[in-house]
Amino acid sequence: MKNNPALLRIPGPTPIPENIQRALSKPMINHRGPVMNELFATLKKDMKDIFGTKGQVLFLSGSGTSAMETAVTNIVSEKEQVLVLVSGNFGERFAQICEAKNLIVHKIIVPMGKVIDPTEVGYYLEKNPKIKAVFATLCETSTGVLNPIKDISAMIKETSEALFVVDGVSAVGAVDVQMDNWGIDVFVTSSQKALMLPPGLAIIAMRGDTWQKIQHNKGSQFYFDLVKYKESLDENRMPFTPPISLLYGLHESITMLKNEGHAKVYQRHQ
Ligand SMILES: Cc1ncc(COP(=O)(O)O)c(C=O)c1O
Repeated sequence: MKNNPALLRIPGPTPIPENIQRALSKPMINHRGPVMNELFATLKKDMKDIFGTKGQVLFLSGSGTSAMETAVTNIVSEKEQVLVLVSGNFGERFAQICEAKNLIVHKIIVPMGKVIDPTEVGYYLEKNPKIKAVFATLCETSTGVLNPIKDISAMIKETSEALFVVDGVSAVGAVDVQMDNWGIDVFVTSSQKALMLPPGLAIIAMRGDTWQKIQHNKGSQFYFDLVKYKESLDENRMPFTPPISLLYGLHESITMLKNEGHAKVYQRHQ
């Protein structure tokens, strides 16, 4: 393998700035000690600002798909009905996860390059009141479209009690997102795109009392049981050994985003 850094022209993994590389190579620390606790406290607060939420932010070891699967497993149970909004490959992935979990999966599919129509979502939910959750993709990386998440969310709230789960893997950090204002109940992302980190860190945010619904869901998950993550992160820990290097890197990445200014960063990605 040559020593030259690869010129990456893919949506992610993205190139890692040198100061983040340095943060990633810091020595290991006690993953249950005070330095780690302080790092978690800072990262939780900063990620809430990036998601635009006053709710919970949980960190997991895994790529983006692990966060998608965790969201599905923790909020719906076998044989419950869900609606998946498919505007490309990653919407289809949400549908595949739901099918693998034996859920009853409804889909609204639009052609590649098109966005989901919020009005159609409203009609669909009115006709199917048993739907417990709606899954959507903010930036459909396979086509580059940004779905109108704010309007879809408003329509869901108007026509149903369903929870709204959004995949923000290629969006969070690159575009302005306002989880609480838009009414997204569960928002997932991962490290390797706009956050400028290697793959392997997944992040899940939950709005307001969404947490209560998760607590009461009796799933069969163990490693990705969000109850464990919530309880540990309330004490600034993770239930299992955290990806310490990636968390150091995230701290550096957030510092870079803050220094540049979020508005400028979002403008640069347009
Ligand atoms: C929108 C979106 N969702 C989910 C994923 C899956 O993430 P991962 O490959 O990290 O599991 C990707 C990855 O490219 C993505 O762009």
